[in-house]
Amino acid sequence: MSLVISNLSKHYGEVQVFSHVSLTVAPGEFVAIVGESGVGKSTLLNCMAGLDTWQSGTVVLDGMDLGGLGGIGDEGLSRLRREKIGFVFQAFHVLAHLSVAQNVALPLMLLHQNDDARVQAMLDAVGLSGLGERLPQQLSGGQLQRVAMARALVHRPTLLLADEPTGNLDPTTAEKVMAALIEQTRKHHASLVLVTHSTAASARADRVLRLEAQGLVPA
Ligand SMILES: Nc1ncnc2c1ncn2[C@@H]1O[C@H](COP(=O)(O)OP(=O)(O)OP(=O)(O)O)[C@@H](O)[C@H]1O
Ligand SMILES: [Mg+2]
Repeated sequence: MSLVISNLSKHYGEVQVFSHVSLTVAPGEFVAIVGESGVGKSTLLNCMAGLDTWQSGTVVLDGMDLGGLGGIGDEGLSRLRREKIGFVFQAFHVLAHLSVAQNVALPLMLLHQNDDARVQAMLDAVGLSGLGERLPQQLSGGQLQRVAMARALVHRPTLLLADEPTGNLDPTTAEKVMAALIEQTRKHHASLVLVTHSTAASARADRVLRLEAQGLVPA
């Protein structure tokens, strides 16, 4: 999926988070975004998924304008997210009353495409084989993060937005999970935008950009 962000700016009242953010991500491209804590990386990722609003500029996915008048609207946005976007949140947003497997199966259920074999394959791919029946409270932080990643990938999105997906993992597990994430996105020619503090993770990207208050610059 192509993503084109032009001159985006975001502020809360008087407080500017960022401005002049422009970025084009080609289908199948892997872009890593780095930057200091609080600079607005999570906010920017949320804007890319239409989960947050902005004051000026545009976000266009496959020719569809996500914001403002003439944008695709709430219903269009929900459908686009459900069908085309996978999101790994910085805070996992795993549903506590559903098992691991049910959490991962959720995007498929919403698309009426239940597929237990695919759920199992996804769990295997992120190193959670055999843990499908557990509840989230019975998992470690790193395992929860992998549940969130499996859930973001299971419906084969064409745009994967991942916010620090290896932040809670030891280096060996981080490496494995990152490899699974990259393999899955490459296999389905999905675009990947990864926010990370990990140099090992950003080293694998096609491009690394740094978010600053005045925009994205090459890192
Ligand atoms: N509701 C709000 N009102 C005012 N400021 C906010 C609000 N929500 C977020 N912010 C500010 O917006 C800025 C960007 O936050 P964001 O979470 O996007 O940063 P980040 O780059 O992802 O940081 P980190 O690396 O710590 O995750 C922060 O300085 C934060 O304090
Ligand atoms: Mg963040």
